[in-house]
Amino acid sequence: MPGLYQGRNFVSIHDYTVEDVQRIFDLTKALKLDEHTNQRKPILNNKTLGMIFEKSSTRTRVSFEIGMNQMGGKAIFLSSRDIQLGRGETIPDTAKVLSRYVDGIMARVFSHDTIVQLATYSTCPVINGLSDFLHPCQAVADFFTMYEKRGYLKGLHLTYIGDSNNVSNSLMMAAAKTGVDMTICSPGGFTPCDQIMEWWKMDSPLTGAQLTLISDPSEAVSKADFIYTDVWTSMGQEKEEEERRRIFQPYQVNDELLSKASKDVMVLHCLPAHRGDEITDSVMDGPKAAVFDEAENRLHAQKAIMALLMS
Ligand code: CP
Ligand code: NVA
Repeated sequence: MPGLYQGRNFVSIHDYTVEDVQRIFDLTKALKLDEHTNQRKPILNNKTLGMIFEKSSTRTRVSFEIGMNQMGGKAIFLSSRDIQLGRGETIPDTAKVLSRYVDGIMARVFSHDTIVQLATYSTCPVINGLSDFLHPCQAVADFFTMYEKRGYLKGLHLTYIGDSNNVSNSLMMAAAKTGVDMTICSPGGFTPCDQIMEWWKMDSPLTGAQLTLISDPSEAVSKADFIYTDVWTSMGQEKEEEERRRIFQPYQVNDELLSKASKDVMVLHCLPAHRGDEITDSVMDGPKAAVFDEAENRLHAQKAIMALLMS
């Protein structure tokens, strides 16, 4: 299976078919088992990944770099502050030059258009490591985590509470492609954007996934198998932090909210968490949280994505 999506980009889950997405989960499972049974295989022997970062990262940077190491390759960290991109070299020129050296590019950027341009002008695969619009690698790891916890995906119910952002956008795309029903619970003005709603309408009939948009958190969690939250203020929105903290306060995932959900409900968060804002310590550190399993699964999921695209 490695090499099956050779030369493709991983910009959005919307670009991948239902079967494509299933194959990513299948390879994730196999690679995780290999790793846990000391059977690493040099799938990307001597390959190199260039990693462009315009924003901070712990999980994405470390899991991509370690993932390349585990598959016999290596990764190069390229902060946009240090490369010429930060001094005005164009994105197309950067993509064309890097493609002459590396076998794949992973980028974390502000504007989603930067990822689109990198993918357009690069001759090697480009992987979206988060843009203002999407965070597809995160959603693959999250849905793999849900699959691990429950043994299946189709028919599960995922309730996302908070800001409709890059993370919730990619969760919606993954839900549409896997048949997971989704509730998005957000205050007015913070609901999914038109583009995501359009993609949802295109993709969800493929699996029958249902979407509920709601603003009351108590009602939103009543059917949930998984409750998901993310920061109220994403990277790049720091100026709005105070106002957002006020608007989103009723959307905190805390013990009281969990008491309104099924007793088997599990809690997900892409991390980093702002403890005390969108999620309390008691939930983060409690028995229902699967957030560190999720973080581990970034490694396995991204190894699968890189193996499929780059080998
Ligand atoms: N979840 C996630 O992408 O984490 P980082 O910002 O640490 O990479
Ligand atoms: N929505 C968050 C996700 C961080 C991984 C952000 O963009 O900052």
